[in-house]
Amino acid sequence: MKVIITNDYDEMSKTAAEIIKEQINKKANSVLGLATGSTPLGTYRELIKMYKNGEVDFSYVITFNLDEYVGLPDDHPQSYHYFMYENLFNHINIKKENIHIPKGISDDFDRDCKLYDEAIEKFGEIDLQLLGLGVNGHIGFNEPDDYINTKTHIVDLAEETINANKRFFKSIDEVPRKAVTMGLGTIMKSKKILLLASGKNKAKAIKETLNGYLTTDVPSTVLSLHPDATIIIDKDAASLIDVEKVKENDDVVLKL
Ligand code: F6R
Repeated sequence: MKVIITNDYDEMSKTAAEIIKEQINKKANSVLGLATGSTPLGTYRELIKMYKNGEVDFSYVITFNLDEYVGLPDDHPQSYHYFMYENLFNHINIKKENIHIPKGISDDFDRDCKLYDEAIEKFGEIDLQLLGLGVNGHIGFNEPDDYINTKTHIVDLAEETINANKRFFKSIDEVPRKAVTMGLGTIMKSKKILLLASGKNKAKAIKETLNGYLTTDVPSTVLSLHPDATIIIDKDAASLIDVEKVKENDDVVLKL
């Protein structure tokens, strides 16, 4: 893996946005895998700026989001559908038909999960997958467990995730207990992966991600098997890693 350590959140976001811009400029019809949550907000703000400055064109870009809460309709302010339109899609020239987000409401989730995987497969692979990182090492909503489904599936959210995400809801009781998520197999098939993390609360998960072992207790450790994964973290998220030790397995770029 390549590990880029930046001074702060803004620098992390700018670095990620540059890589995404380069990807789109290299291939206009790039298939992007997108994440929600606090982490990619700055990256999306940068991409919007780049679009407004004429530096990048989204008209042929295709997107697949990682996940959605089960039970929230698309227009619910905490749904990931709403998040994506509010924080990115409404501000760029992406075509609605090129946007894919798992459905949070369905009369047949098995069918819809299968259709989601088939829709991705139709485009071959995801060219660039953007990931945030859960405090427990989840990617997408692939939570720590003995077994992790490799395809799009329904998952019970971990207590840590429910606690971490309650900040977006009026009370913890309103946080959905289940989500639909892209599986680790699809994520790992992406040609390029960009994992972002900032803040001290991600330091432990980052340390484990870079420990050089694989365990389903920390789903992000699977990324060490990917041929083109880049981790962009700020100083705080990097605070528990031993850079010299990480250098034994990974390329480290310090932007400090
Ligand atoms: C969201 C997602 C999750 C988040 C993770 C970190 O689409 O897939 O894995 O990336 O929970 O969330 P934040 O960025 O809010 O700390």
